[in-house]
Amino acid sequence: MFTSQIETPSYVIDESKLIENLKVLERVQKEASCKILLAQKAFSNFVVYPLIGQYLAGTTASGIYEARLGKEEMGKENHVFAPAYKSADMDELVKICDHIIFNSVAQLMKYKDTCLKAQVEIGLRVNPQCSTQGDHAIYDPCADGSRLGVTLKALEEALSKDASVLDGVSGLHFHTLCEQNSDDLETTLVAFTDKFGKFLPQMKWVNMGGGHHITRADYDVDRLIRLVKELRAKYDVQVYLEPGEAIALNAGYFVTEVLDIVENGIKTLILDGSAACHMPDVLEMPYRPPLRDSGEWGEKPFEYRLSSYTCLAGDIIGDYSFDHEIQVGDRLIFEDMAIYSMVKNNTFNGIPLPSIYLLHADGEIELVKKFGYEDFKNRLS
Ligand SMILES: Cc1ncc(COP(=O)(O)O)c(C=O)c1O
Repeated sequence: MFTSQIETPSYVIDESKLIENLKVLERVQKEASCKILLAQKAFSNFVVYPLIGQYLAGTTASGIYEARLGKEEMGKENHVFAPAYKSADMDELVKICDHIIFNSVAQLMKYKDTCLKAQVEIGLRVNPQCSTQGDHAIYDPCADGSRLGVTLKALEEALSKDASVLDGVSGLHFHTLCEQNSDDLETTLVAFTDKFGKFLPQMKWVNMGGGHHITRADYDVDRLIRLVKELRAKYDVQVYLEPGEAIALNAGYFVTEVLDIVENGIKTLILDGSAACHMPDVLEMPYRPPLRDSGEWGEKPFEYRLSSYTCLAGDIIGDYSFDHEIQVGDRLIFEDMAIYSMVKNNTFNGIPLPSIYLLHADGEIELVKKFGYEDFKNRLS
């Protein structure tokens, strides 16, 4: 078992599971004749970019450093979308990206000439104003007042003042989903084409963003393939998808050790891992991460609250139960920890960053990166 060969806390990337996901995505690309990009904001472990690049069309970035990373480490198609760009960043982006997507007409007009001169394809993010996310308002770009994407009203107003606004724009982009199935994509596509379909005859491509949980067991892949094919057939456009989660879903673990057990009406395990530092989505989403060999509270005889060795009272990972009593020194394995973990971690409280391991498909475990005091110190003065 790999856990006995590694130090804690550590993230472990599971190459076999990654390949399994990539094969599903490869099928979508082939059968729907579309292109899939890695959204690096979810997963940027470039040690596996050569592997991912064997299957996917390229990368997409949300900022200048992700854009550089995609170019340097995968070197395939390199897209970028950001709510706004700084002029200095744009000078670099046009050299390293082939597709730049704008969030407003003002940003589009500011940088259009620079992009066209550099022969970069220009996209405009639109807001179909179709919320399908239920209770995840923080991740809903279609929520009332959202700053993400141009509404039809704003675009039409801009066009009424300047009919050339969309000249030079080769694609429309929307991103509305979060961990959703293809039924919600279908609903969104109706809203998108109802509102923006009239602009598609002048477009080369449509980017349907991320949030497609394509590699989840219950995801309806056949419906996704049908939807992409229908859009391609109706409007003669190249279709891009840019999922992050789906690429590394369930393809990583976070391994921690129990440092102490504190009792105060409830037994709390103090781990050398932290929700706030090492899996911030647990607090942000919020959600209870899956833990190997455990059950819900009340399901198994030994119940514990899992917490951290930071001093933040609310640094609580969740409540779990086990078949046996937990001892100091035991190791616990959180599942589905490749996505939105390493890209977001931090050294709050002066806590070291976890090491990163790669579990190869042949079972060999490789230490990819170990961090030290300098990684903490260098960010602070
Ligand atoms: C514009 C854009 N594209 C792609 C993604 C990736 O989404 P996910 O990791 O949920 O698939 C996001 C996530 O926020 C996004 O904002």
